[in-house]
Parts: sequence; C-alpha cells; structure tokens
Amino acid sequence: MIDRMTLGLTPSKPHTVMRHASGDILHEEMFTRGGFSGAFSYYYHRYPITAALEVSASTRGHAVAQAVSPAEGTAVLKRRLYDTNALAPSGMPLECRVPLLFNRDVSIYFACPTQSDDVYFANGDGDELWYVQEGAARLETSCGVLSVATGDYVWVPRSLIHRWHLTTPSMRMLCFEAHGGACVPADFRNPVGQLKLDAPYTHRDFVRPEAPIATMDHVPDGPRELIVKKSGGFTRLVLEKPPLDVVGWDGFVYPWAFSIHKFQPKTGLIHLPPTIHGTFAGPGFLVCSFVPRVTDTHPQAIPCPYPHSSVDCDEAILYLKGNFTSRRGVGPGAISLHPAGIAHGPHPGAYEASVGATRTDELAVMVDTYLPLQPTAYAAGIENVGYHDSWRTATPAG
Ligand SMILES: [Fe+2]
Repeated sequence: MIDRMTLGLTPSKPHTVMRHASGDILHEEMFTRGGFSGAFSYYYHRYPITAALEVSASTRGHAVAQAVSPAEGTAVLKRRLYDTNALAPSGMPLECRVPLLFNRDVSIYFACPTQSDDVYFANGDGDELWYVQEGAARLETSCGVLSVATGDYVWVPRSLIHRWHLTTPSMRMLCFEAHGGACVPADFRNPVGQLKLDAPYTHRDFVRPEAPIATMDHVPDGPRELIVKKSGGFTRLVLEKPPLDVVGWDGFVYPWAFSIHKFQPKTGLIHLPPTIHGTFAGPGFLVCSFVPRVTDTHPQAIPCPYPHSSVDCDEAILYLKGNFTSRRGVGPGAISLHPAGIAHGPHPGAYEASVGATRTDELAVMVDTYLPLQPTAYAAGIENVGYHDSWRTATPAG
C-alpha cells in the first residue's frame, strides 16, 4: 500500500446504489486485509463476483516449496550459491515459477516464462513482490493494467485476480511470496502515512494502474478460468463472466511497480550497514536494493562490506549487474545464501582491494530473513557446490 487512489466510476457514498444504463445494479466488492481492520479497497463490478459454474481441485499451478531432507546435506551451515541461469526458460508465470528458498514468512521463487498466462490467478497465500531481472509484460489485474519492465519491483496484493501478458519473448523474474504481507517499511512513513523526506523513494516513483480495464459499455472478454492458491493447494473456478469487470475502484489495495533505478542510495563518511538499502519489508524479512552509488567519503574508509556475523539473519542476494565489490566469481542471475550461525564477508582480497574506491556500479537485490531459509530440491539442483570453499586462503595440508 502506497497511498489512496480512485479510478473510474464510483458512487459518491460507499455501499449505495450505482446502476448501468440497462438498470442493472453494479456489484460492490469490499477487498479487505487484516480481517476488516486493515487496508482495503472498494471495487465496483459489472457482474456478481460470486458466480462460478464449476469449482474443483486444479491440476495447474506451480510447485510449492518443500525442503530437501537434512539427509541430503542442506542442513549443514555453508555459504551457498545457486545459478538461476541453469533454469530452462519455459511456460507461463503461474506454472513455471520454481521455489528455491523458503521459511514460514516468505517463499522465494524464480521464474523464466516464455508464454503469457492463459488463465487468471489469485494467490491467497501472500502478497507477491516480484523483481523483473529481464523482459517486459503487461500485468492485467482487477484494478487495471500495469506495464512493467527490466528493473521493476512489482507488487501484487494477496488474492488479487491477475495474469501476466508477456510483451517480450521471455522474462526472468524473482518472486517473494510474503505470507504475512510485504510493503513499504513503516518507518519510511510519517504519522499521516506520507512517505518521509528521508525515505529512499517518493510517492511519485510508484507506477500505478492508469484506468480500469472495464467500462460501463465494455467488459473485455478473456479467460474464464481462475486458479486460486491457498494453503499450498490450487483450486480451479470456471467463471460465468469475465472476472476483470471492474469499472471503478477506490482504496489503498492495488498493484504497483517501482523501478530499482529510482531507489535513492545513501552514502556515509564510513561504511553504512545493509539496512540503508532497505526497500520493502514484511513480517520476518527485509528486501534491500544495492544500486550504483558513491562510496564512503572518509579518506581511509574501507568501502567493501565489513566481514560480519549477523547472528539472527539469513541473507540471500540475487546479483544483477556490475562488479559486486565483495564477491568474486558471481555474475548476473546468481543467488547466494549466507546463513546465520557462521560469519560471512568479502572474498579474500576484495576487502583490501576496495580501499580508495569512490564508486560502485553494483546492482543486486538482497533479502534478510529472521527465520532460516530452507533450500528446496530445485535449489540443490542448480547449486555451485564449490562456493563455500572459495573463501579458502590456503590449500589443506595432505
Ligand atoms: Fe551480509
């Protein structure tokens, strides 16, 4: 939730009559979070939202995160590296996303779609916060269309009906499924909810739907099949009418996009902690953006991140572009996982080599989680097993 918006036709007072020229009444949907106590939107539909011809278990959907058993070795505390470039592009966003890491608060997927969704999807298991590494799409939703492209974070609220329509032959995307929600960190807002002057972005940096998809005179046709995910299972509903029939809406719950290139970085006299890169958050996790920036200004500053033991947080980083100052041998599409419990830091030599640097051109998305992240079998299948040993400074004797 960024701020309140209203688009299209709405009655002057909620829960009152608004009619189509035919005399048909429009159907109000209260889309509420936190029971009825959190953020909400009013959506005004041409047709009843409760009409479905069939309801059944779905044979379509995506794999749901399951841990690799400890017997297979992932319980050992190691620094790990996964290569998403090894995932073959194929399929549509609903079905091709692959779970890599997860805990109770967040599941992390990677998707390499080559087709548009041919059904609508609503994820009842959490907000989806995507990062588009490559490609472009139109995200068609109940609130309208979002045009998204490389470098965009895309927020899809829990249970919002939507589908991805690719406008490039393929895409590569990271997805955080935030089980307790994800949004702007609370300390970026002032008491009236406005983004504060020292927040790393402004209200104007967020791209929102420009108009409802439907009008009083025209409801575009589309798929009549809706797949709903809840508790890790998928339900298929066959709908009587096109679901994107909203002619107007008002409220705080709607999808948005934010380009990582609009994130305003901060620089200090000496190295500032990773929290200054904080961008979006949810219960149990913080997503951070590492963007090109001027580095620390003290003449003796060490710009490279200090070796550290963040004893309560696991850390996963998707590398995107540029030379990440602290790492050797990682390129675009690599995801590192550095678990709490063991220290981590720059590769040997990187710390010393950074002295005197005045800029960094790195681009990366990081997530810190309070609960340990469990790798899945899909992650194990694309793991660079020698990564942990790349910190060795000497060859073992013998
Ligand atoms: Fe770290």
